[in-house]
Amino acid sequence: MTTEEIMELAMEMSELEVEPADSSIYVEGKNIKNVFFGIDIGVEELVWAKQQGFDLVIAHHPPSAALRYEDIYKRHATFMMQAGIPAEEAHQAVAEKLTDLHIQSKTENFTRVVGMAKLLNMPFMNIHVPIDEITRKTFQRVIDAMLPATVSDLVYEMNKIEPFPHSHVKVEAIMGDPEQRVDRLPVLIGAFTNGGYSIAKVWFDHGFPGLVYMHIAPGEFQKVKAEFPDRALVLTGHMPGDYVGALIFLKELKNKGINVVSVGFSELV
Ligand SMILES: [Fe+2]
Ligand SMILES: [Fe+2]
Repeated sequence: MTTEEIMELAMEMSELEVEPADSSIYVEGKNIKNVFFGIDIGVEELVWAKQQGFDLVIAHHPPSAALRYEDIYKRHATFMMQAGIPAEEAHQAVAEKLTDLHIQSKTENFTRVVGMAKLLNMPFMNIHVPIDEITRKTFQRVIDAMLPATVSDLVYEMNKIEPFPHSHVKVEAIMGDPEQRVDRLPVLIGAFTNGGYSIAKVWFDHGFPGLVYMHIAPGEFQKVKAEFPDRALVLTGHMPGDYVGALIFLKELKNKGINVVSVGFSELV
């Protein structure tokens, strides 16, 4: 396979229609048979992969701030509108964070990892939102098949998805009564990062009984909890959450005859 074909496979599997603005090919590769995968790839991993003779390194998180993170964060607004929340409110909810992301992107060193991949002539790409979208759809399917259900039953089922049985970080309800029954539980993953307080507030204001995030900053969580203590907030955890989609994608690469070595949960690929 080529790097281009691998990106297309990820797009197909995610059923995304948008261009993956936070995913890119930095050094093209052809005739790829051996892939090294990690959620975060730095120079060390690139050097090691080169020494080991891998044909391609795939990162999940983007190594380049030149990518348009903001475009992906706007998916939080898309999720809201798809759930019937008015467009104006949805756009307002993401506006402040879009500015933060834009300003933050100025600080990042976007030359180091990508530059070293080029100097090493090590084929290198990252696949971010397509893998997160596979994660989101996987969780949402499990949840929707059970609704209405108690939060604890939903969490129990979510913890059966790979790699959770092999992870010490589990899906967890960190807010609200776990025995409450919910009729809706949107999974807000695949929008670059969690929506923090401002996104959670809009969903809760619109009567949603709970939400699923991968993670949330402690200060943001305290704000949500102070205002909506009875609603359910479920966290999947960052690494096991990212590996839900990553493992599904990596297994598909294996089905296509590619040898895959993963940094995390390597025994599950
Ligand atoms: Fe992710
Ligand atoms: Fe992540």
